[in-house]
Amino acid sequence: MDRLRGKVAIVVGSATGMGAAGAALMAQEGAQVVLADINIAGAKARAADIRRAGGEAVAFEVDISNEAAVEADVIGPDTATDILHLDLAIFDRTIAVNLRGFILTMKHAVPEMLKRGGGSIINTSSGVSLLPQLSQHAYSISKSGVNMLTLAVATAYGKQGIRCNAVLPGLVLTGQLTQDLVEGVVRHNLTPYAGLPQDLANVFVFLASDESRYITGQLIQVDGGIFAHTPTYAETMAEVARAHGGRRS
Ligand SMILES: NC(=O)c1ccc[n+]([C@@H]2O[C@H](COP(=O)([O-])OP(=O)(O)OC[C@H]3O[C@@H](n4cnc5c(N)ncnc54)[C@H](O)[C@@H]3O)[C@@H](O)[C@H]2O)c1
Repeated sequence: MDRLRGKVAIVVGSATGMGAAGAALMAQEGAQVVLADINIAGAKARAADIRRAGGEAVAFEVDISNEAAVEADVIGPDTATDILHLDLAIFDRTIAVNLRGFILTMKHAVPEMLKRGGGSIINTSSGVSLLPQLSQHAYSISKSGVNMLTLAVATAYGKQGIRCNAVLPGLVLTGQLTQDLVEGVVRHNLTPYAGLPQDLANVFVFLASDESRYITGQLIQVDGGIFAHTPTYAETMAEVARAHGGRRS
């Protein structure tokens, strides 16, 4: 209950999804929570929920891209295009929120953290930052940048008490997902289910707490194991085995 007592948690992108779940759990663990989001109505509603439950929370409006034109949902993997068909305006907006936005946030947060003797930064990246897909290239490139940003900050400020890790979710049931997508991903997950926002919130709290004091500069996959194996290879082997009546060769 008190794993984050005495700490201030600034959770960017906490009006919905895994950020909202993380903010709620951090408050339950005793943190004073600042919910920062472009969707101020949502952030205020989540802050009110936390206060009703006995926690401490305030909401702030922030656009991490600092660019009024950016759509609220750019933070998600909405760019279903490959590099040849990529609209550069979409690429620029994706980078502005998903990468430059994270850089901007750190540029302002790190000096404050240094004044207080350090702290823990948790960046939400994605499993697709590690392995290529046929599409979503702007998104995966932006998240690869987040991985390197995480390592750079961990390296530069570790001795001054700042830990910096990235969490790489697989499919998590937030927002609008089609049944086809969920079923397809769960088929390839090693777990028999998809991730929930709470699964990420548990990891966020651990990484924010002093229990993880020796963990920094890590890319932590929370993805039901989908990126821990080669499902296409396994399926090909199974097809070959079937074609040979159960024998492999
Ligand atoms: N849901 C998944 O399956 C999944 C998988 C891998 C990675 N991710 C990543 O995890 C993170 C959270 O995803 P989610 O599924 O909880 O999404 P979500 O859409 O529920 O939450 C994103 C939040 O960010 C806010 N936001 C968007 N643009 C912003 C801006 N410019 N400034 C400030 N706030 C802004 C939104 O208002 C929203 O509250 C994202 O970075 C996403 O790319 C999600």
